[in-house]
Amino acid sequence: MRNEENVPAPSDGALRLESSTDEASLQRTRARSQEIEAAILEDPSRFRMLTGDRPTGNLHLGHYFGTLKNRVTLQNRGLDSFIVIADYQVITDRDGVGDLRERVYSLLADYLACGIDPAKCTIFTHSSVPALNQLMLPFLSLVTEGELHRNPTVKAELDATEGRAMSGLLLTYPVHQAADILFCKANLVPVGKDQLPHLEQTRQIAAKFDKRYGRAGDKKRRVFPNPEALLSEAASVLGTDGQKMSKSRGNTIELGMDADTTAKVLKKAVTDADRHITYDPVNRPEVSNLLLMASMSSGEAPEAIAARIGDGGGGALKAEVTSAINDMLAPIRARRLELIADRAYLQEALRAGNQRANEVANETLEEVREAMQMVY
Ligand code: TRP
Repeated sequence: MRNEENVPAPSDGALRLESSTDEASLQRTRARSQEIEAAILEDPSRFRMLTGDRPTGNLHLGHYFGTLKNRVTLQNRGLDSFIVIADYQVITDRDGVGDLRERVYSLLADYLACGIDPAKCTIFTHSSVPALNQLMLPFLSLVTEGELHRNPTVKAELDATEGRAMSGLLLTYPVHQAADILFCKANLVPVGKDQLPHLEQTRQIAAKFDKRYGRAGDKKRRVFPNPEALLSEAASVLGTDGQKMSKSRGNTIELGMDADTTAKVLKKAVTDADRHITYDPVNRPEVSNLLLMASMSSGEAPEAIAARIGDGGGGALKAEVTSAINDMLAPIRARRLELIADRAYLQEALRAGNQRANEVANETLEEVREAMQMVY
């Protein structure tokens, strides 16, 4: 690799990629997200939304409150919605995750059980949409090696693989993610802040493509839009031990768990020595997180739940949060069981989503070929 010290300062664009998670930049993104929320209420037809997940594990409460609920709301407001089940992203940092096909159907069942409607939302898998993947080639030509290495999310993921060598796909998957977003010309991407560097890279690729192929001057001739982030404002719930909710820590409450398993997991939740329950996120993070989960599940304010429990201690708190979560998830779980038992329905939903995604991707690739003078 070139010695970065001797290379002229990166272009303005590259600097922004690194700083897209700075506090000031986050503030701007949050403010912009609020403007976008207002614009959606006014005219949802101006937006096409794309978001997605890696099919690596079952979705849990963190996903539900953090993004799924909001996706359903946006879909029901009439936004044209796309969701990618990112099967090619699974192989960025490992050889496999067990039975990938089962994981894909399980993720699909999670989505549909939560209210994502395959009639309103195009759900598709990367590997089924060749034209999307083909965009990766021209897009890679628009990105420098230095930019790839500076992506903070890729750096963090590399750290998490504990010294294993970085695959070429791990280094370049943000470019592939740009193809996810741009193949359908999405202008709105609901994401958490860890994904902001990828979105910044996507914006750069979109702008560079149109510039390189002479489409930047006239808005109407541009091939790609400028996709914007919609940052979720929901308070994030932590795991049952007060740490980040993640499968590997065993501290999650999965949407698909049954009520008894949920009760068991919550019985082991961490609390503290003070029997008097209060909502105090700074000084009592574990207790407050349980109250927050109960609150987000039932709609009752966390302070009110705490007051009701009073001196009941951790046991009463756990009983409270268990029933709030189990009540809220009961219909989702019942629906999920029906869906899992009906493979033909899931297959048909995915087939229809993949077909629509292919139609859209083929059209975009045609425009890209046209712009690149590669129509023969
Ligand atoms: N990288 C995202 C994640 O790990 C999943 C994803 C794939 C995605 N493609 C996307 C998110 C496009 C938003 C837009 O969660």
